[in-house]
Amino acid sequence: MGRLKGQVALVTGAGRGHGEALALRFAEEGAAVAACDILPADELDAKVGARIREAGGEALCSQTDVSEEEQVRKLVERTIDHFGTIHILANVVGIAGPTKDVWQMSLEEWRHTLAVNLDSAFLGCKYVLPEMISKRYGRVINFSSGSGKQPLSHRTPYTTSKMGILGFTRTLAADVGRYNITVNAICPGSHEERGVELERARAEYRGDPFDEEAVRNRYQEPRPNAVLAGRWCGDEGYIEKGAGSGEAAAIAVFLASEDAASMTGQDINSGGWVMW
Ligand SMILES: NC(=O)c1ccc[n+]([C@@H]2O[C@H](COP(=O)([O-])OP(=O)(O)OC[C@H]3O[C@@H](n4cnc5c(N)ncnc54)[C@H](O)[C@@H]3O)[C@@H](O)[C@H]2O)c1
Repeated sequence: MGRLKGQVALVTGAGRGHGEALALRFAEEGAAVAACDILPADELDAKVGARIREAGGEALCSQTDVSEEEQVRKLVERTIDHFGTIHILANVVGIAGPTKDVWQMSLEEWRHTLAVNLDSAFLGCKYVLPEMISKRYGRVINFSSGSGKQPLSHRTPYTTSKMGILGFTRTLAADVGRYNITVNAICPGSHEERGVELERARAEYRGDPFDEEAVRNRYQEPRPNAVLAGRWCGDEGYIEKGAGSGEAAAIAVFLASEDAASMTGQDINSGGWVMW
């Protein structure tokens, strides 16, 4: 507790899943949190802002489509006006995109996934980095995926965007290290609701039966050898457990903390899915 005391964190996609978990954990660790989502601000505030305040923290909730440049510019401006600066930028937003093969998807579907998943990180950095550079301090945390490192069938826009996040992270890390700014990526495991949605979409696309209960059961503890490639790791004797939002948030706290001051350009997996 208190590892981020006095810090200001901007978290995108804070309405659900990993973004929500990060916003809450950052606040528990003492950071003031600017939370944004495409959800209406009052809804986000009732769901996330209220919990941050109940825990004694400060929250500013905004409705922002992070794929839209002007909205991101305004979000950053509003955050700095309100809290004075931004120390931590967590680019968490990511959408699954279409579950289709390339020859069946439209250019619009392709572009929309890349815009939300990749442009958003670019835009967040474009508008926050001048503030971090001026203060000679910053922590940028981008969200990639296990599929940023290995294929996920029928999901080319998603995997392309997540592989792109890793290239973006490494290159940006090289560019801003001289300003005492670190840039790292987290490749998280799945959380239950997202996992169910994705498995359902894949089953529908393939015409396979979908057993929601079986998918949900994989998220219950203890759950050795859970999830797609976790099963593959299980064959090697590894066990996947604890690969939810809490785990990704704990990694984010570490990356944002003083303990990670010399780590940059890294991509950290959780979930035992990929190991490189
Ligand atoms: N959950 C997983 O299975 C998993 C696995 C690996 C990587 N990831 C990555 O982790 C990150 C978080 O994933 P998650 O599963 O927690 O997501 P989620 O779908 O649970 O939540 C995403 C949040 O982002 C918001 N959002 C969507 N589009 C937006 C936009 N244009 N602007 C602003 N907000 C928007 C949604 O309203 C939602 O609250 C993503 O980058 C995702 O790719 C997730």
